[in-house]
Amino acid sequence: MPLKPEIIVTSDSTELARIGARILVETAGECVDRKGRFTVALPGGSTPRHMNRMLAQEPLRSSMAWDKTHLFWVDERCVPISDAASNYGLAHEDFLGRVPIPVDHIHPMPGEVVPEEGARIYERELEAHFRPSKGEYPVFDLVFLGIGMDGHTASLFPAADSSVLSGKWVVAVKGGIPDVYRLTLTYDVLNRAKKICFLVSGKNKAQIVKTIFEDKDARLPAQGIRALHGELQWLMDKDASSLLPEGIIHGAS
Ligand code: 6PG
Repeated sequence: MPLKPEIIVTSDSTELARIGARILVETAGECVDRKGRFTVALPGGSTPRHMNRMLAQEPLRSSMAWDKTHLFWVDERCVPISDAASNYGLAHEDFLGRVPIPVDHIHPMPGEVVPEEGARIYERELEAHFRPSKGEYPVFDLVFLGIGMDGHTASLFPAADSSVLSGKWVVAVKGGIPDVYRLTLTYDVLNRAKKICFLVSGKNKAQIVKTIFEDKDARLPAQGIRALHGELQWLMDKDASSLLPEGIIHGAS
């Protein structure tokens, strides 16, 4: 039975970025101490950019176990890396170019090939890294996720045909803003992560956050995320959580 999600509210987006970066560095440290490696999947969009930039600044830059860390992506837009919509391209601009992570520890989704082929390529990359037993799945130590105002997460959109997801670890879909082809991890992978952390910031997300927490019949993609074998955290700033009842919120740590 999945644990109840932990809700952490921060005063503003800067504190959200700081706590998100701290969760990443601390989870990496715990994993490296325990098993000598750490694997994380990053989301795209604008919310994680401040957190990502903090990873390239001291003290986090030196605290992070870069040489034992493998970075994957939750989703990617099928555009050139140089395109402003490229999640990998933005991550490279925000921190990857300024931290000592080995190049072969960075696993961008192949957004510049035919989308369906890109999905198969990334599944093979997940297979090579995680080496799951037959019928098992890749298990990330940490997955960060954002949510869209329509309740999407990763590139799992409300109108999408969920049947295309079954049996797949990565699928190619079209949608979102920009409305382009994208590659996305599926629930089968996302929900098996040991820790899932939603990062949500801004007044414009308050209504969808309220719907996600209160309308169980909404059947939104973000409601399909549940940590089957681990922890689910919602890291939100005051604006994004402003429509939630006081009772379900813990203060920022
Ligand atoms: C993407 C993201 C997507 C994002 C949400 C929130 O590639 O678009 O993975 O799921 O997390 O759309 O985006 P913002 O952080 O920009 O609001």
